[in-house]
Formats: sequence, C-alpha cells, structure tokens
Amino acid sequence: MNFERDNIRKMDGYAAGEQPEDEQTIKLNTNENPYPPSPKVDQTIKHLAGADLRRYPPPTALAFRSLAASIHNVGTENIIATRGGDELLRLLLTTFADPSDVITMSEPTYSLYKVLAQIQDCQILSIPLIDGRVLPADFADQANAAKAKLTFVVNPHAPSGHLTSAEKIRELASSLNSILLVDEAYVDFVDPQLGYNCIDMINEFDNLIFLRTLSKGYSLAGLRFGYGIGHASLIQPMMDKTRDSYNLDNFSQQIAHAALSDQAHARETWQKVRQERSRLSGLLSQLGLVSEPTETNFLLCQVQQWCGISAENIYLALKQNKVLVRYFSAPGLTDKIRITIGTAEENDQLIRTLREVLANN
Ligand SMILES: Cc1ncc(COP(=O)(O)O)c(C=O)c1O
Repeated sequence: MNFERDNIRKMDGYAAGEQPEDEQTIKLNTNENPYPPSPKVDQTIKHLAGADLRRYPPPTALAFRSLAASIHNVGTENIIATRGGDELLRLLLTTFADPSDVITMSEPTYSLYKVLAQIQDCQILSIPLIDGRVLPADFADQANAAKAKLTFVVNPHAPSGHLTSAEKIRELASSLNSILLVDEAYVDFVDPQLGYNCIDMINEFDNLIFLRTLSKGYSLAGLRFGYGIGHASLIQPMMDKTRDSYNLDNFSQQIAHAALSDQAHARETWQKVRQERSRLSGLLSQLGLVSEPTETNFLLCQVQQWCGISAENIYLALKQNKVLVRYFSAPGLTDKIRITIGTAEENDQLIRTLREVLANN
C-alpha cells in the first residue's frame, strides 16, 4: 500500500547541496559565509547548560524578535522568528494558500519554492526571467491574471545574483493582488552604496513580507534560524495559529540573539565577501568563467566556448580535485556553474585547481 497523498507521491523532494566527504575539500556550493560567526556566539555557547533544556523555550522568541525589530526600526508585531527562512516559506503556504491556489515564482529561482508549493498541492505559475535575471515588465499582470494567492520573489536573485531595485519592489507590492514574499536571504551582501532598503514598505502595503536568514550574513547555516518582517496582519496568523507552539529551541534563540546583536562583526564579514567577490570574478573571467554583476555571496559563471570543456565537466573535475561548486542541470543553466565566494585562501585554491583542470583538458 502507498499511503502518500497523490501530490506527494508524484513530486520529488528538495535536493540539498552536496556535503564534502573529507576535511580537505573546499566547499563553495551552498552559499555559506566563509568567515566564522561573531565571537559572542562562541561565548553564548560556552554558557549553555543541559539544565536549560528542562523547560520549554520562550514560545514567541520575544527577546530575538525585539532585537530584530529595533535593528529594522519596526514593531515586534512585525517580526516572526522561524527555523531557518525555509520555515517561513512553509508557513506562508500553509497559512495563506489553499490546495489548488496559484503560487507565482520566477524561472529560475530558489528551487524550494516549487517543492513547498507542491506539498501544499498548489498550482505553480513560473514566469521566465529576461536573460535568467530580470523580472519581465508584466510579471504582476501575469500573476494577477492567474489569480495568484502568493508570489515569491528572491532579491537579490538566486541563482543570478541580480538586484531588483527598491522602486520595482514597491511597484510589485502595489500592483499585485497576491501576498508578495520578497526573499532577502542574500541582502546582507548588497553594496551599501546602492542604498537598497525596502523594509519601510511594510507600513505601506498589507500584502508585503520579507524573508531574512542568519544562515548567510551571520555565518549560522548550521543553526537553522531566520525571520520574517511584514505587515502585522500577515505575521499575526502565523504567530498565533499555524506555527508550531515552540518552533525554536532555547539554545538557538540565545545563539541567534548573540549573532544579531553583533552587527559590527557581521558587517565586517559582508565587506570582506564583497571585496573577494570582485577579485574572484575578475580572476574567473580571465579563465573563461564569466559572471554578470552580483550583489550576493556567489557568482553564476557562464563557461565560455573557448574553454573547450562543458560546465558540468568543470564541476566534476573540480569535485575530483576537492573543490565543490554547484552545477544545475536545469534549462538555461547547463552552461553555467555557481560558485560561492570563499575566503581569500579558498578562492586562490579554486583558481589554482581550475587552471590545472583547464590546462589538462
Ligand atoms: C534564496 C534562498 N532563500 C531562502 C533560503 C533559506 O535559508 P535558511 O532556511 O537556511 O534560512 C536559502 C538558502 O539557501 C536561499 O538560497
């Protein structure tokens, strides 16, 4: 007997990024921050005790939410803390979308959106991006025509790294009839000189919510902690009804609080990533792996014909030489590899290995 629901039986699950098989492998495939988290995180961990787990954790993560609210200059009622940004995505679907409702997303995008929409048995409207990067002008019109309930836009975009302007986000929020989730998983790496900041817009639009995560900017992918910033009317049903009653354990709430409280440390890592980003993209393009401008901590590199080797074979050869990068077999991406910005040493090792791979081809 197969007891799965029909839609679950028909779908594939999310494919998590590969894990290295040994300590020597350089991991540049899942967009983690290459620098360690704040020293305050280590201090907090040192003071954790098993006895602290006897009681249930603070149910609403109030201390973390108050801190996040003060950093973003919004009210505590505008913040929900979640087990990774991924839990927020799941909550949005289970709270606001009925089975068979339409969920809009771009093509390509973060592949978990589709998986979560399939779990909820929703219909998916995938709108192709121009050159795989830019939202088409009629994006909102297409979503409205399909009567979409929820729209997922990732900004800066994954996997291209392209930043959609704040003006365009405002225009989308105001013209969409659906909820708009702007997934800002990589926003910490945006060049501050661009002045991109959309959070204030939650006071203007009751259909707007942002996803933030501590996995990237705060070097805590292993912790599983993220949060949503949105209009109180969107936050409240998730806080009070659909969230697990204790969705965040006691230890992770304390660790996340420590990391978020050390903005200076986090900002330093973001700046180092930006510096390495421009150095690495220059070195890679000389070798024929050319990327468009990115505001994230990764580069989507197109392998030039003159390299005489496919993107997939570069990925495989790098892997054999203990450097993990990401290859997608999806349409529009088969001539590209995505490379997470590592430390200067890791990036140098990547370049050395790539030179050997290309020379031996
Ligand atoms: C675009 C995007 N959104 C959201 C997430 C979720 O991050 P997490 O669940 O680790 O907070 C990721 C993780 O890779 C991502 O790439």
